Amino acid sequence: MRVDVVSIFPDYLSVLDLSLVGKARQRGLLDLRVHDLRDWTTDRHRTVDDTPFGGGAGMVMRPDVWGVALDDVLEPGAQLVVPTPSGEVFTQRHAEEMATAEQLVFACGRYEGIDARVAEHYRDAGVTVRELSIGDYVLNGGEVASLVMIEAVARLVPGMVGNPESLVEESHGAAGLLEYPVYTKPPSWADLEIPEVLLSGHHARIERWRRDRALERTAERRPDMIAALDVATLDKQDLAL
Ligand code: ADE
Repeated sequence: MRVDVVSIFPDYLSVLDLSLVGKARQRGLLDLRVHDLRDWTTDRHRTVDDTPFGGGAGMVMRPDVWGVALDDVLEPGAQLVVPTPSGEVFTQRHAEEMATAEQLVFACGRYEGIDARVAEHYRDAGVTVRELSIGDYVLNGGEVASLVMIEAVARLVPGMVGNPESLVEESHGAAGLLEYPVYTKPPSWADLEIPEVLLSGHHARIERWRRDRALERTAERRPDMIAALDVATLDKQDLAL
């Protein structure tokens, strides 16, 4: 998979050399390229922004600079991702869809954002454009949001995660529940014991216990996820909880 990130702060993306994403790059699974938007400016000051039409505070990024940059970077079949606090909230479902793209291009805005015609123009040209927020808070720009999305997507690309089974049971997976609590050695720590059932070796009882804890935890922390559950996927014991 190819991933391109365009930003006026390319150094922000240097952490992509590390960890799982870094290893995937070394192994050739991920072709990741970071670009400086200012490389596409033509004036002496390398200007990327201007004042908003209609007035108001802050600066808006110019569509003409973004246009030449994106025309250069976008390949056929690409999805264009514009991180913005005004976007749809990014979820595991978006990550799954994005993991199937041949190329993802992240356009990182700063200031008050990118001139709205940029997203409109590429949508009109037939490109899948995703304006996505990573949560209901405001960051200084799209760089950190891009890092979050790149990590979420990269771990879904086949070959990226050592044990694909670890993707199955995790929170926000198909079950629509948060993950159950997990424990490891030592069995007793700080006067806290691990739940006995986990030592029983009784597979069915362990499964039941884990599902109950997942349901309990989700009800407590994410009632919205419980409300969204498909009742047909629940069994009798779920409903008795
Ligand atoms: N840019 C600034 N805030 C953001 C957010 N919450 N999500 C995505 N991009 C952003």
